[in-house]
Amino acid sequence: MIITGKYPNLRLRRNRKTDWSRRLVQENNLSANDLILPIFIIEGKNKKESIKSMPDVYRYSVDKIPMILDKAVKYKIPMVALFPYTNKKLKNELGSEALNENNLVCRAIRLIKKKYKNKIGIMCDVALDPYTSHGHDGLLKEGKILNDETIEILIRQSLLQAQMGCDVIAPSDMMDGRIGKIRKYLDKYKFQDVQILSYAAKYASSFYGPFREAVGSNKSLKSDKKTYQMDFNNSLEALREVSLDIKEGADIVMVKPGMPYLDVIKSIKENFKIPVFAYQVSGEYSLIKNAIDRKLIKEDSVIETLVGFKRAGASAVVTYFADQIARYLK
Ligand code: PBG
Repeated sequence: MIITGKYPNLRLRRNRKTDWSRRLVQENNLSANDLILPIFIIEGKNKKESIKSMPDVYRYSVDKIPMILDKAVKYKIPMVALFPYTNKKLKNELGSEALNENNLVCRAIRLIKKKYKNKIGIMCDVALDPYTSHGHDGLLKEGKILNDETIEILIRQSLLQAQMGCDVIAPSDMMDGRIGKIRKYLDKYKFQDVQILSYAAKYASSFYGPFREAVGSNKSLKSDKKTYQMDFNNSLEALREVSLDIKEGADIVMVKPGMPYLDVIKSIKENFKIPVFAYQVSGEYSLIKNAIDRKLIKEDSVIETLVGFKRAGASAVVTYFADQIARYLK
């Protein structure tokens, strides 16, 4: 790094003196193009239900999805991510509701594709936790999460979502080897153009708390997910995860949670030069949102956090603020 000049010839405040000048030298710029909006879906008709731990975030019944999708399309948000709140009676040990072509996610994909065509992308989580009675992302046997057996189901879940019209398959389960297997089967069944966004560096985190309430897996989950999600003490391990997923065919990788892991985003970007997305997760959302609601910080703190992701090297951010911020930017 070369510093060309010195005070008093050089005064860095000169470029900051006016708004127009600051705009000219601005290095990053947040737009709606950077945002991915998660949507929670619930059974029933004509429902828009609030989520206690996430103020201003709602669960929509499938017929009400246009309420939020119309806004997302209008604000030019490029993609939505679908998450189901599955009825308890549909959950079991194997998470078989994941493979039901009339489950909430499948119905939502069909509706969105029919109504909005390619105006907006759809991304779907591949993992079993919304569907298992124990709340884990994979199959549980004698206290252990089975890796290879889980992948067999994840392949079928991915194929089903692709068949329904999902554009971006996003495995968030952290099983070893799933990206390669899913890519192989997508290709075999002629879904070569379906993208894979791998949650490559997903940490076992306390910040997922509100999400688990939002999808109703909080009560079922008894233990933690530390045997498959990453240890937050590690960052080099994230590079190993990412390099494997790239070799296996990931188009984009995700770092999750977001704000405590900006270093991870930056080092992945620098090492691999591929698109990296960040997930500003539910706990981060609730933290900031509650502080805004209590007037401890101002609303533009949200922009500050989102630009932080971009400075670190993220191409896009999954955030529950997406619709609120896209509207604000407009
Ligand atoms: C499940 C999944 C989780 C999130 C997205 N997909 C939770 C978990 O792993 O327990 C969390 C998202 C959030 O907190 O906003 N595979």
